[in-house]
This record gives sequence, C-alpha cells and structure tokens, in this order.
Amino acid sequence: KGCKLVGCGSAVPILSVSNDDLAKIVDTSDEWIYVRTGIRNRRVISGKESLKSLAVEAARKALEMADVDRNDLDLILMCTSTPDDLFGVAPQVQRELGCTKTPLAYDITAACSGFVLGLVSAACHIRGGGFRNVLVIGADIISRIVDWTDRGTCILFGDAAGAVLVQACDAEEDGLLGFDLHSDGEGGRHLGAPINDDRTNDLLGSNGSVLDFPPKRSSYNCVQMNGKEVFRFAVRCVPQSIESALEKAGLTASSIDWLLLHQANQRIIDAVATRLEFPQEKVISNLANYGNTSAASIPLALDEVVRSGKVKSGQTIATAGFGAGLTWGSAVIRW
Ligand code: ACO
Repeated sequence: KGCKLVGCGSAVPILSVSNDDLAKIVDTSDEWIYVRTGIRNRRVISGKESLKSLAVEAARKALEMADVDRNDLDLILMCTSTPDDLFGVAPQVQRELGCTKTPLAYDITAACSGFVLGLVSAACHIRGGGFRNVLVIGADIISRIVDWTDRGTCILFGDAAGAVLVQACDAEEDGLLGFDLHSDGEGGRHLGAPINDDRTNDLLGSNGSVLDFPPKRSSYNCVQMNGKEVFRFAVRCVPQSIESALEKAGLTASSIDWLLLHQANQRIIDAVATRLEFPQEKVISNLANYGNTSAASIPLALDEVVRSGKVKSGQTIATAGFGAGLTWGSAVIRW
C-alpha cells in the first residue's frame, strides 16, 4: 500500500522580532546573527496565541487543501517538544478541530526531527495499520523554554506550526519513496532542556530511610546547547542520512528536484547542499524570516513553497530533520 501527501498548511505568530530587537536585550548585533546563522527575524507568540492555536490553524489549512473532512481523519500525530500540557497536546488539538470521530491522537517528542519521524510514523500506520487519513503536525514554541538572557541560544529560535495530510493510496502513487532514521543518546548532552531533579540526595538516607518527604517540585532547564558540536553533528550525519534515504528510494541526489532541510542555520544548509552537490537554486530556505522553528520548520517551509507554486505536483523533495536527542532522519517524498 502507498501513502501520499495531499495537503499542507502552516501558521506563525503575529509578533515579529528582528535581530535589532534582540540586540536591545542581549549583547549581539544584526550582523553577527545574520553572518553566523542566516536569520533576520523570528516570530514569537503573544496574547492568546499558543501551541494549540497555531497547530489548529495549520491543521485546518492542510485539511482544506487536501479537501478532507475532519470527520474522515483517522489519526493526528502532534510532533512537538513544547506541549501546552506535559501529558500531551494532540487530543486537545483533536478536540479543538472538532474531530469527534477520529479514534486516536498522540504526541511525538523529537524536537527538530519530530516532523520527519511523524511523517514516517504516519506512513507506517497507513501501510501496516489500515489508517487512511493521517494528519501530521509539527509545532513548537521554543520561546517558552529559551533563556532570553543567553545570546548563544535565544537568537536562533522562533515559534510556528506546520501540518501535512498523509493519505493512503495505491502503491504506484506512493509519495514516501525512502527514509532513514537515527538517534544517539550519547550526543544528547550537546543539546537539550533537561529536568532539574536531584531528589535522590534530598530524599534517601544512606541506610535507605526517607529523609525529606514530599519531594520539591521539579522544573525544566532552558535550552542548553553546545553550538559547535551540534553544527559538526549536523554537517556529518545529515548528508549520510539523506544518501541512505535516496539509496532506499533507488534515486540519486542529482535526480531530486528540491532539498528541504530543517531550518536551523544557513551555514548547515549550505554545507549539506555542497556535500550532496545540490545547486543553490534547488535548496529551499526561509530561515531568514522565521529562525529555527524546531518541529515546525520543514512543514512551514513546505507549505510556503507549495502555495507559492515553487514546488509542483509530482516533484521530488529530499528532506531531513536533525536536533536534540540527538535524533536525525531523512525522507524522500514526492509532492
Ligand atoms: N552575538 C554576539 N556574539 C555571540 C553571540 C551572539 N548572539 N553568541 C555567541 N557569541 C560569541 C561567543 O560568546 C563567543 O565569544 P568569545 O570568542 O569571546 O568566547 C563567539 O561569539 C563565538 O561563539 P561560538 O559559540 O563559538 O560561535 P559559533 O561560530 O559556533 O556560532 C552558533 C554559534 C550560531 C550557535 C553555531 O554554533 C550554530 O549555529 N550551531 C548549530 C546550532 C543549531 O543549529 N542548533 C539547533 C539544532 S536543532 C534543535 O534540535 C533545537
């Protein structure tokens, strides 16, 4: 059985924050940020905006483009690492969309790789599980978990949501031509927002007796990152992963129409494109406008190029997500 992408949508917050705006709160400059990252602006939620509101807006647009009724959705996969509720946000998105007949909605946590993992999971549910219409949403509000006094990280991220509708089809129409997924917990120390929880020392005496109960409330740290290590990891692992996905698809880079990488840093995008010998005109980038929007970046960029007519029906795209975990993965898709 095949599966194809039949709709996409995206949503970004109203508030746009420029590099110059950031230079007012941390010691940085537009030039430093642009030269090192390619980022000029990013969006940040305000007022009543939330992860859920952006996700629902992106999802509605994807359903509309796909011309699929919300009651015909079988599954919603919500790829996010910044949920409105730690126990999961997908069922709330399901409720907000009014998908009362949709049997299942759940979250996938894999930061910037989340969307690619969601896409492949959707295909597996369709191919092996009998599902017909699966909505994959990539959305993150990194502005919630970034330290706005840390110039090394706060300049990189933005908030957004993107969605695609993946639909069952005949094998010859298949739109997921090959994929390749990885994780490496060893490298995870280079990027994360870990919990702060040292209760073992507080609670347990040497003879096993309980010293201090109940435990204090735990909290999560802000995003912590070794930028140089993450950069090296991405430039090393992403080309290999894309080559592996291309091989599984029986294709070569030269036969692919577009390269669409997770939008983390223009220098990473350029280095991967050079390694794979993708000419600049085949490389999709909207990083300058939105920064790194984590799980949203690939569907957000996809939605822009589909709606602008740049990417046409039947064209092939090599896409890859990479980031915290560490996790990374590639997919070769036909739009
Ligand atoms: N403005 C001005 N100076 C700065 C800033 C800033 N915003 N940030 C850091 N600096 C300074 C540092 O303090 C350092 O100063 P020093 O030499 O006096 O010590 C100097 O600039 C160089 O800092 P580096 O961190 O070494 O700079 P680097 O060239 O590595 O660039 C960057 C930093 C842009 C973060 C880069 O490493 C990068 O993009 N890495 C990849 C990060 C990434 O993509 N992360 C997201 C992954 S996806 C996910 O899952 C979330």
